[in-house]
Amino acid sequence: MQLPGNHSEVYKCWLRYAAVTDPASLEEYRKWCGELVSPATAGLVLESAVSELQQGMLSLIGVEPQRRSDPEASHYMLLGVGGQSGAIDEALSPLSDSSPDSYVLKTCSLNGRKCLLVAGKSERGALYAAFHLLRLMQMGSTLEDLDIQESPSNGLRMINQWDNMDGSIERGYAGQSIFYENNRIVGDLTRVKDYARLLSSTGINAISINNVNVHHYETMLITESQLPEVVRVAEVFREYGITTFLSINFASPIQVGNLPVADPLVEEVRMWWRKAASDIYRVIPDFGGFLVKADSESRPGPFTYGRNHIDGANMLAEALQPYGGIVIWRCFVYNCQQDWRDRSTDRARAAYDHFTPLDGGFHDNVILQIKNGPMDFQVREPVSPLFGALPSTHQMLELQIAQEYTGQARHVCYLVPQWKEVLEFDTFARGEGSEVAKVVSGTLFGSKLGGIAAVSNIGNDENWTGHVLAQANLYGFGRLSWNPQLTPEQIAREWIYLTFGTKPKVVEIILHILLNSWQTYENYTAPLGVGWMVNPNHHYGPNVDGYEYSRWGTYHFADRDGIGVDRTVKTGTGYTSQYHPPYAELYESLDTCPDELLLFFHHVPYSHKLHSGQTVIQHIYDTHFAGAEQAAGFLEKWLTLEGSIDAGQFENVRSRLQEQAQHALEWRDQINTYFFRKSGMADEHGRTIY
Ligand code: GCU
Repeated sequence: MQLPGNHSEVYKCWLRYAAVTDPASLEEYRKWCGELVSPATAGLVLESAVSELQQGMLSLIGVEPQRRSDPEASHYMLLGVGGQSGAIDEALSPLSDSSPDSYVLKTCSLNGRKCLLVAGKSERGALYAAFHLLRLMQMGSTLEDLDIQESPSNGLRMINQWDNMDGSIERGYAGQSIFYENNRIVGDLTRVKDYARLLSSTGINAISINNVNVHHYETMLITESQLPEVVRVAEVFREYGITTFLSINFASPIQVGNLPVADPLVEEVRMWWRKAASDIYRVIPDFGGFLVKADSESRPGPFTYGRNHIDGANMLAEALQPYGGIVIWRCFVYNCQQDWRDRSTDRARAAYDHFTPLDGGFHDNVILQIKNGPMDFQVREPVSPLFGALPSTHQMLELQIAQEYTGQARHVCYLVPQWKEVLEFDTFARGEGSEVAKVVSGTLFGSKLGGIAAVSNIGNDENWTGHVLAQANLYGFGRLSWNPQLTPEQIAREWIYLTFGTKPKVVEIILHILLNSWQTYENYTAPLGVGWMVNPNHHYGPNVDGYEYSRWGTYHFADRDGIGVDRTVKTGTGYTSQYHPPYAELYESLDTCPDELLLFFHHVPYSHKLHSGQTVIQHIYDTHFAGAEQAAGFLEKWLTLEGSIDAGQFENVRSRLQEQAQHALEWRDQINTYFFRKSGMADEHGRTIY
């Protein structure tokens, strides 16, 4: 639903700008923030910073800063970019080698006055500085003696919308699209603008605005009929320093170009794409480029013509190159027509097997986008070995904020700890210290392009994300992609302060729920890294054999004796060899394979002893009983917050936690019962299993 002018607390998310009540802070903020000096000829993005500061301060401290070209008061804010004033240049000088998105927040004395520099190397940087300042004020931090220098670790900090033009969202759990309805881009883009503000405030600088599965209408987004509409969306994002990308259909030359083929080596096809690119850049000069899902889950691609990913990606790259555009080519490529009887084909191997032979062959404006794990956004998977295997190719990490397999915004599951593990995973590609974070930032292999993308979790629900606590994942993704050094707790704390305020009891309870939520979800769902025990298609709720006899390559092989997928070199699919040592050996051996990934790598008897000392079967029972209890505990704790937070926020989370607690029982009982019946082994503690 589109909301009228006065927005509820849940709509504002972390940009509530709640009135400062502490008298000392109020006095300090009013002293510093009464006057805003900025160039009269500011560009679009700097104007967004001005209006954000003015509206934010008005809401926070009841005073709208006076905009001036020269200071008059004893204290003032100086907003701007490098090259504008000596003080700004001096403050920015330590950042001379870093990203154009870098910024400073710094207090200094200037011509007898006190000045708070809010300055970026670019206008985008200045906008980030403005949001940072407002964040500090919302968290009650002092502004005296500020000396903050920030620069992002990742060049691309990108959101992938999986929105379709009929208004639906693939894997969307928070209502309909805010971008489209009835196969058109919506007329009123107010909500898109509010989204742009939310994203920009966390450091996001790029967005692809349509689903990677590009259907009939979406194929036309790059054509004359729809481009003027895309221009409108790009204008909104541009004001907030966010570059617009489109997902494209590889078969566009056939579907909208009337060509007989989409073969990337046919000259007419190449010309068609060059013309398409020139048409786009004529109207969107700062267009980002194309996101491409090709030869994946039945989407068209170069394989049809006996060509490979290099042929496909480079053709598009050549079309975009004259304008500085890039191709983001997804590596989610595998055989989705597998026969479940065939134990030799292993879906986990697919991305690595397809793409490592192609390393070094892609043009310089191509980035390969790799999902965090080798399967598909499961609760627990190992990190994709592909990150360590493409030293001569630009790479990007793909995460999923939408909780497709992690509770679909009906269960709370704070995903920042999971993402953090991925970023910290050491690929050993260049010896110890070759973490995924360094691969995707470009520092490990010296690549000039890279970053992190994530599938969005927003829709037109009033609170954007369905579950209010799922807002933390959107916020957390932006913050972590800016700075992977931040801890899940730091990010959660920030988000809680901004969203709910700083009352200690509120902070403590929400922090507890968030930080324990992923583990809890894992406890009562799929054990020990096995994955996929969900209902087919929509992927919500337990169904142990839901994917066992399917064509998707997603099996657990449970029988009366044991469970798990043998991916060892010695007796299994050989997937473990895709890792560099020491992980290749570590995963290969039962003695060293971490418990949480055991069933991903090995098929073991139910009586197998884990490092924890527990048997596999007892671990399944124990974690499922514990997980359901933890879920009930979340609800219990939440109920004590009634009256301490906004009623709308409270009720949304209360009802979702209630559903979660109920649904966790269903998970617990189905999983436990299934394995009890398969194994015939009793629970050591004699609890009820059906
Ligand atoms: C998952 C998801 C699909 C999606 C695909 C992708 O398989 O279920 O809906 O299209 O990922 O990432 O392309």
